[in-house]
Amino acid sequence: MILTVTMNSSIDKLYLMESIQPETVMRVKEVHNTAGGKGLNVSKVAAKLGEPVTAMGFIGGFNGQYLVSLISEPLVRPAFTHVAGETRCCINCWDLSNGRSTEYLEPGEPVTQEDIGRFLADFDAELPKTDVVAISGSVPKGVPEDFYCELIRRCRAAGIPVLVDTSGNRLIAAVKEKPAFIKPNEDEISQLTGRHFSSREDTIGALVELHEGGIPYAVLSLGGDGALLACDEGVFHGKPPKITPRNTVGCGDSMVAGFAVGFARHLPILDSFRMALAVSAANALSIFTGDFDPADYARLSREVSVERIA
Ligand SMILES: Nc1ncnc2c1ncn2[C@@H]1O[C@H](COP(=O)(O)OP(=O)(O)OP(=O)(O)O)[C@@H](O)[C@H]1O
Ligand SMILES: [Mg+2]
Repeated sequence: MILTVTMNSSIDKLYLMESIQPETVMRVKEVHNTAGGKGLNVSKVAAKLGEPVTAMGFIGGFNGQYLVSLISEPLVRPAFTHVAGETRCCINCWDLSNGRSTEYLEPGEPVTQEDIGRFLADFDAELPKTDVVAISGSVPKGVPEDFYCELIRRCRAAGIPVLVDTSGNRLIAAVKEKPAFIKPNEDEISQLTGRHFSSREDTIGALVELHEGGIPYAVLSLGGDGALLACDEGVFHGKPPKITPRNTVGCGDSMVAGFAVGFARHLPILDSFRMALAVSAANALSIFTGDFDPADYARLSREVSVERIA
């Protein structure tokens, strides 16, 4: 069982517009509402790969109930902790004439100390049924920036590997607890190390340092260039074939989902890497976030390559 953590969930509203004209009244062509937040994207993709998922985090109010009703994957079991404030909405306005999108992210309501305590009790109760934990994204107001450290410590005590995909100070704090896996992108590894990288060699050096500092699987995602993996087996560059992406939002979450499924199935790490590369590229071909067409995934699984570079 994969346990995902989405502390800052949202109802994601995708507005498809024929063309966006500022300062006019515009009609939305299509609306797609989904259960959003990076951990929920991981949940959807992992479930679609055939792995059962327990989705945890905070939800609140009528929006929270609505969010749960939007989780349609039968393999995702929602196990959210309820809070008083309404779950936020995030709107992505997509201009079909040029493919550009503009996102409006609501700040969300703060949570209380008591909410955090109830979440931790719920989390502890799920751990005995869990093989791997994936923690993704940001936290709502009221949750300290080093909160993921507490979750990592509880997982370590229970002998459960943790995958962390977050940014900024949350990532800096989490890395100190040495989770099993991190997956920064290029911006995030700069924030994490406080360095600007001018060459691929420098970036690889930083990834290897993270691995040698105690992260068993350090992955750096490079968008259309694939990803680098530093682990005890070596340093590897995984590449997808050239594709024409439709929507790359959630590619990182899909990559985390691929690894989480590999960990849950105890696959060799390079098999997990290939699965993560194929499913994240397949996500880029879908207009929806945290979604893929199984036929694209099957084809891309044959087309990804992994090369040892060190
Ligand atoms: N254009 C693309 N073609 C093929 N694969 C892609 C493309 N964009 C992303 N991917 C795959 O998805 C992985 C993750 O993408 P990316 O580096 O953009 O993550 P990210 O910035 O964390 O994204 P997000 O946080 O929005 O989920 C890449 O390592 C790559 O394997
Ligand atoms: Mg990301």
